[in-house]
Amino acid sequence: MADTRKPSQDFTLRIRRYDPESGQPPFWDEHTINLEPHRSVLEGILQAKGKYDGSIGIRCSCKAAICGSCGVRVNGKPGLACHTHLSAALKSSGEDGVIEVEPMGNMPIIKDLIVDMDAVHWKKIQRVTPWLLAQDPLPEREHIVDREAMVDVTQSMACIQCGACVSDCLSMEVDPLFIGPAALAKAYRFVGDPRDVQQFERLKDLAEDPHGMYDCTHCFKCIEACPKGVAPMNQIMRLRRRAGGDHHINDRNNGYNHEHAFVKNIRKNGLLHENDLLADSFGGKFNPAAGLFLAKSLPVITRALIRGKATLKVALLHPHKADDHVKRIFDTVEGREERVDLNLYITGYDEDDKNGAANEPVVVGAGDDGQASPSAPGANAKGAS
Ligand code: SF4
Ligand code: SF4
Ligand code: FES
Repeated sequence: MADTRKPSQDFTLRIRRYDPESGQPPFWDEHTINLEPHRSVLEGILQAKGKYDGSIGIRCSCKAAICGSCGVRVNGKPGLACHTHLSAALKSSGEDGVIEVEPMGNMPIIKDLIVDMDAVHWKKIQRVTPWLLAQDPLPEREHIVDREAMVDVTQSMACIQCGACVSDCLSMEVDPLFIGPAALAKAYRFVGDPRDVQQFERLKDLAEDPHGMYDCTHCFKCIEACPKGVAPMNQIMRLRRRAGGDHHINDRNNGYNHEHAFVKNIRKNGLLHENDLLADSFGGKFNPAAGLFLAKSLPVITRALIRGKATLKVALLHPHKADDHVKRIFDTVEGREERVDLNLYITGYDEDDKNGAANEPVVVGAGDDGQASPSAPGANAKGAS
């Protein structure tokens, strides 16, 4: 709040410029702008564009963190230019106090700060059938659905398709075919919707795809990047729990077995013992598939041993044993009658609870794109506001 009373001051923006059609390599371009510290990086870029160089390429529309057009990297971190205060950007800048603005990653550059969302982001969104597959024929009246089911998908509904999570996804950097965080979060929006009649087919498809739900390496980058709290990685974990836990989809990518091997490993050792993990993921030490995978992994294992990241003692022995605390955690979680999926997007405060209406069913408009009507609980919480 204090920032709003501060007078305008100079900020230096260092903007990454690149025009693929020019045949010239990318370069950095610096401009000094003058604005109040609470103004956004987007306003700074637009001032530089208006005052000094109209050829700076930036995409924007709402200037209010709603439309998702102005995704960029500020000082190396992805986010919305219109949702990043100049004062905050200055704080996260380097020693020279210059605010660096670059285009998002993992997508081709069209010009300067504008990336080709069609080539990557929207293509992946299309891949997950991003609309409701409703029963046919449709019911004569509205669908009545459980409140909890709609709360569960609220978080994924809040996505504004800005691409910030795609920009920093480490798996996508290694495997550009990975469906990716935004599209998988969108997939959960329909898998979790009780009105959708193809949940199993959706899950099977995404589990069997070698670039699907099991291609995520839990790096948390998408959670850090998302300006709307969608936490795409959590939505991917939900897809996996539904695929493995509810539908027992034993996929050809071995994702299901690998997850079970993790659980078994931690239950036994307390800490991850990777030596067992590999064999257990392939059905045990004597399974030929385990031997084959081990042979393929030998160069990686050798490098880890040479660099001291692994030792033979730890690899061959079991220096850790799970203590009673770990066993108690497993007993508690596995002893529950129902799985508890905490939707952290709902922060615990709910108007309806005060009014005693917490367990009322929710009427949701059956729009053809599957988007909830404003009557869905929490639809506005931190959402496209
Ligand atoms: S957690 Fe998974 S989806 Fe998210 S950025 Fe990392 S690898 Fe990508
Ligand atoms: S999940 Fe978040 S970061 Fe990713 S596209 Fe949606 S709003 Fe942007
Ligand atoms: S301009 Fe719309 S989100 Fe930034």
